[in-house]
Amino acid sequence: MHIEFVPDHGPISAGADAALAVLAFDEASLSPQAQQADAAAGGAVARALTAIRYKGGKGQILDLLAPAGLDAARLLLVGAGPKGALDDATAEQAAAGAYQAVKASGLKRLVIRFPDLTPALAARAALGVRLAAYRFDKYLTTEKAEKKPSIERVEIAVADPAAARVAFQTAEAIADGVAFTRDLVSEPANILYPVEFARRVKELERLGLEVEILGVKEMEALGMGALLGVGQGSARESQLAVIQWKGAADPNAQPIAFIGKGVCFDTGGISIKPADGMEDMKWDMGGAGAVAGLMHALAGRKAKVNAVGILGLVENMPDGNAQRPGDIVTTMSGQTVEVINTDAEGRLVLADAVWYCQDRFKPKFMIDLATLTGAIIIALGNDYAGLFSNDDALSEKLLSASKAEAEPLWRMPLPSQYERQIESPAADMKNIGGRPAGSITAALFIQKFVNGVPWAHLDIASTTWKKGSTNPSNPDGASGYGVRLLNRLVADHYEG
Ligand code: BES
Ligand code: MN
Ligand code: ZN
Repeated sequence: MHIEFVPDHGPISAGADAALAVLAFDEASLSPQAQQADAAAGGAVARALTAIRYKGGKGQILDLLAPAGLDAARLLLVGAGPKGALDDATAEQAAAGAYQAVKASGLKRLVIRFPDLTPALAARAALGVRLAAYRFDKYLTTEKAEKKPSIERVEIAVADPAAARVAFQTAEAIADGVAFTRDLVSEPANILYPVEFARRVKELERLGLEVEILGVKEMEALGMGALLGVGQGSARESQLAVIQWKGAADPNAQPIAFIGKGVCFDTGGISIKPADGMEDMKWDMGGAGAVAGLMHALAGRKAKVNAVGILGLVENMPDGNAQRPGDIVTTMSGQTVEVINTDAEGRLVLADAVWYCQDRFKPKFMIDLATLTGAIIIALGNDYAGLFSNDDALSEKLLSASKAEAEPLWRMPLPSQYERQIESPAADMKNIGGRPAGSITAALFIQKFVNGVPWAHLDIASTTWKKGSTNPSNPDGASGYGVRLLNRLVADHYEG
């Protein structure tokens, strides 16, 4: 699918072979382009509005087929909510919604004519279309033709197409990063295991990233007993990927750092999970996937920052060599952990990955992303990720980036009195804290491996995979959650 920016002038028309998308606002108030289309079609839009409860609310679409008099095969009246200047998120959602409405209609072209698109708004609309058009279809060999997307070209009308094209270069780098994440998260675990994940990350050197891969030998030498304990029951070798982007004027300037949980499959280990729904655990590497996609985006748009990405890549399997409940492991930090439940494995992986990160890179801040707990889904549902942090300033920046990119995030408390729940009589801590506040005790566990560095933990078990999505730029399946949020954090606060 190609996206083109075209000059916004002349009478409203799209061609007899194309869908035309225009906007309406609350109370079904028509945008200028919608009024022109209505006039060309002899008042068909106004008449249609008498036949349907259409309010022009965000996401609502009125779909008129073959309107006589209008030069278009189909007219989409896309709701944008409150009247007034379009904001970024609304432009994105409206364009993505229009694409979704006609993507498999048989039509090959979609023409978008929204009012007053600045180059930035047009680029954001194009980003919405790009994200909406993502599909993971490499294993569909017998899909019926009528199910496949038919739209080959989307034209976005804008006063200054050349400037929109420039703005879209940045947006496209972000979209490429999101798609990289979605691909990784969508792959099944027989294809994407730690070594294969590391290989795909190594390929990012073509973008100018520096990538090192550590295997079991190197991690043993570093004393990463917690991460290695999780992977020891798997036939697939554990890996640690270290990705560096040196985009700042001084390549030695202090970096910012991102760490991802990359459990390529989580059976639970000896504390095995029930069979029902276990297939979802192929996306238990969503944190590592997001960090990889973020580094892809930063390199793709040549961000003026030094950033480090650390991915802890393992597979959690039951096996004769798997770790047992009650085992005590020694982490790279020297602290010991009693592994009460082998299914609380993500925090064990992060314990060593986080320690390694601050020990080696002394970053300005560390943000870890992890599909860490089912409890965060109970607390926040499937739209919000949970934010846990030792730093109010970093939290505020994350929350405002979250609003700007429409990747919802909610701050949770980190009360030190709950640390009692992870005390162990036999080791420095245990790896589960019981059912109460399960996401919080998981975060408190990770915090024990943070040594005075501003840190935030994003529990993205709730947002990594969409089912029944109502967001057209984030259809069902792998979301890529985190890439846009963190890219925005970097762009707004840590460049130049
Ligand atoms: N990967 C899971 C968390 C998860 C659950 C992610 C559902 C996505 C969807 C994690 O490793 C896990 O198993 N957590 C346990 C922790 C418990 C044993 C303390 C959980 O949430 O039940
Ligand atoms: Mn688990
Ligand atoms: Zn897990």
